[in-house]
Amino acid sequence: MSDARKPLDLFWFIPVSGDGRYLGTEQGHRPADFRYLKQIAQAVDGLGYQGVLIPTGKGCDDPWITAAALAPHTERLKFLLALRPGVAQPTYFARQIAAIDRLSNGRAIVNIVAGGNARELAGDGIFLSHDERYEHASEFLHVYRRLLAGETVDFDGRYIKVRGAELSFPPVQKPYPGIWFGGSSDPAIEVAAEHVDVYLTWGEPLDEVAAKLDAVRRRAAAFGRQVRFGLRLHLIVRETEAEAWAAADKLISNLSDEAIAAAQAKFAHDSDSVGQKRMSRLHKGGRRDSLIVAPNLWAGVGLVRGGAGTALVGDPETVAKRLREYQDLGIDTVIASGYPHLEEAYTVAELLFPALGIGRGGEVPSHQTQVGEFGIGGTGRLRAVSAS
Ligand SMILES: Cc1cc2nc3c(=O)[nH]c(=O)nc-3n(C[C@H](O)[C@H](O)[C@H](O)COP(=O)(O)O)c2cc1C
Repeated sequence: MSDARKPLDLFWFIPVSGDGRYLGTEQGHRPADFRYLKQIAQAVDGLGYQGVLIPTGKGCDDPWITAAALAPHTERLKFLLALRPGVAQPTYFARQIAAIDRLSNGRAIVNIVAGGNARELAGDGIFLSHDERYEHASEFLHVYRRLLAGETVDFDGRYIKVRGAELSFPPVQKPYPGIWFGGSSDPAIEVAAEHVDVYLTWGEPLDEVAAKLDAVRRRAAAFGRQVRFGLRLHLIVRETEAEAWAAADKLISNLSDEAIAAAQAKFAHDSDSVGQKRMSRLHKGGRRDSLIVAPNLWAGVGLVRGGAGTALVGDPETVAKRLREYQDLGIDTVIASGYPHLEEAYTVAELLFPALGIGRGGEVPSHQTQVGEFGIGGTGRLRAVSAS
């Protein structure tokens, strides 16, 4: 199916907390070994994804160090790096992002995440309440943005004070590497409206996403700004609907009721995140019998995974159609993932990219391969896929 709009930008995910074929079990677990992460990054780089999200948290290997190590092994891939403002001063983070932007030749983006797990944040030395974390994030971004844009900054805030702050080694991207952001609460939307370039939402049903994006748009207009939008979810795409739903079922086939109960209790107890509550509400706090929460939108991942808990499940045309429905709301970027991340990166590129009109990357031989001892037939060249 052709579509006159610009194709969606598709990002993938680097699983710095580990990977696997089944959720909620050690069976087939893949550790976040750098050699494996490098395989994923190089696959995704060649397949034509625009970038990768690398999350941050206690259970994650460090996203910034990982990106710095992956950058020389990739050519085009952008690195969307989660940044919790509370863990360090804006001047320090400005230096870090400028350095990664230079060594990757302009491929760095930050994902500002205030964090939603009070217990974990206490371990990082952050004892601010939910709303205070966003006040702090706003002050952080005031200083961070001005520094990266080349200003000498004096700032005397409630949380952050700097005097004569300067960045000696500027970033490649001007005025600074993109600032993306995730958070669903009212104070989060306020910070997004004032400071960020791209507002990210997890994959909720269309009407809920529409309402949230409208709120961001309205508040951004009050600051005289416009914000772009991105969607973060999982994808389970197969040649037929039946195969896709079977793959979804298989993903949670080793998941025990105890594991679900433990994960949900942890989210309910430790998390003060509005976004997390919205995710948990979709499957009614961990019920396996109500996982299809909108057409082709499946909440099974959220039974045990915090954060992005939904997947679009279906054949390529159907999933493409569902993504276009989000695109109609103003989403221009999708940050996707699938288990295991290496194999699913290929599956999504091979099945979904053509349905979405996304061209594949890489140097592609243009000769015709033959069916025979060494060939599998078909053209070695990718069909030109146009968005029109
Ligand atoms: C796309 C996306 C990615 C996120 N990545 C992270 C992350 O890597 N680490 C983290 O601590 N929180 C992450 N979050 C959660 C945010 O920290 C968010 O601020 C938190 O859930 C609390 O916000 P809320 O109460 O405003 O929803 C992410 C959120 C979104 C939407």
